[in-house]
Amino acid sequence: MAKKTINDFNQMVEAGEKITYLTAYDYLTAKMVEKAGIDMILVGDSLGMVTLGYDTTFPVTMDDMIRHSQAVRRGAPNTFIVGDMPYMSYQVSDKAAIANAGRFIKEAGVDCIKLEGGGEMICKRVKAIQEAGILVMGHIGLTPQFMGQIGGYKAQGRSAADAMKLVNQAKLIEEAGAFSILVEGVPTAVGKAITERAGIPILGIGAGSFTHGQLLIFADMVGLYDNFTPKFVKKYASVNEVITNAFKEYVKEVKENQFPIDGVHTYGQKEEDVKEFL
Ligand code: KIV
Ligand code: NA
Repeated sequence: MAKKTINDFNQMVEAGEKITYLTAYDYLTAKMVEKAGIDMILVGDSLGMVTLGYDTTFPVTMDDMIRHSQAVRRGAPNTFIVGDMPYMSYQVSDKAAIANAGRFIKEAGVDCIKLEGGGEMICKRVKAIQEAGILVMGHIGLTPQFMGQIGGYKAQGRSAADAMKLVNQAKLIEEAGAFSILVEGVPTAVGKAITERAGIPILGIGAGSFTHGQLLIFADMVGLYDNFTPKFVKKYASVNEVITNAFKEYVKEVKENQFPIDGVHTYGQKEEDVKEFL
C-alpha cells in the first residue's frame, strides 16, 4: 500500500473514516505496525519512558529521537511517520525549532513533526517550521513537557474556562498552519468541541470518541509497559506476561538441561570429521 499523505488524511476526515495512529520506537515494532495497516506512526518522546527507562520525557535528546526515528522508518517504509520534537528542541527559538525539525526530515526521513503546547510562542514556532516547508502537528491538552505547570499526569479542560482555553488554542494552532492537531487527556465533550470547530484532522489520545482519529502508545495497548496504565488505555494483549513467561521457561529448561536438544537446535557434522578431531 502506498504511503498516505496529507491529502489522504483530509479525505478520510471528509469521508468520516477514522484515522488510526500508534507509537513505535524501533524497527521490529514499526514492521508490525505497518503490517497491521495503521495509518500513521508517532515516534513519540514517550520513548524516554518506554524504551530508555526515564521517569519523564525531559531527558530525551534530538539524537535519541533521530536514532529511533531512523529505525522506525526502516521498519515502516510505507507508513506516514510523525517525529516528536523533544524537550527544549523547539522552545528556545524559531531558528532552533526549524533546524531541529529539519533534522527529522533530513536524517530520519519522517513525514511530519509534532510539538507540544498552545501558547503564543508555540504558535510562532508552528508558523516558522511550517513556513520552512515542514508539516507540523500540534499537541494540546495533557502535554507532558509542561508537567511542572500542569502538576502531574492529569486530565485537562475539565472546567468550562479550561475547556474554552483549549478550544481557542486549537484554533490558533490551526491558523498558525498546523496540518493536524493531537488532543491528549481531555473529557469527551472537549474533544468533540475541538473536532467540530476544526478545519484540519483532529487526533485524540484520551480525548473521547469524536476526534477524527485515535492514538495509543503501543507499549500500553499491547500490555508491555507495566509501570502505570492511564485510564484511556485499552489493553489489546498481555505481551509483558507472554514475554516474561517465555524468559522463565527458557531459564527453567537451561537449568534442567532440556534446552538445547542436540540434533534439533544444533548444527550437524559428518561422522568422519567428528572422529578425526575427537
Ligand atoms: O510521546 C508520545 O508518545 C506522545 C503521546 C503520548 C501523545 O506525545
Ligand atoms: Na510526546
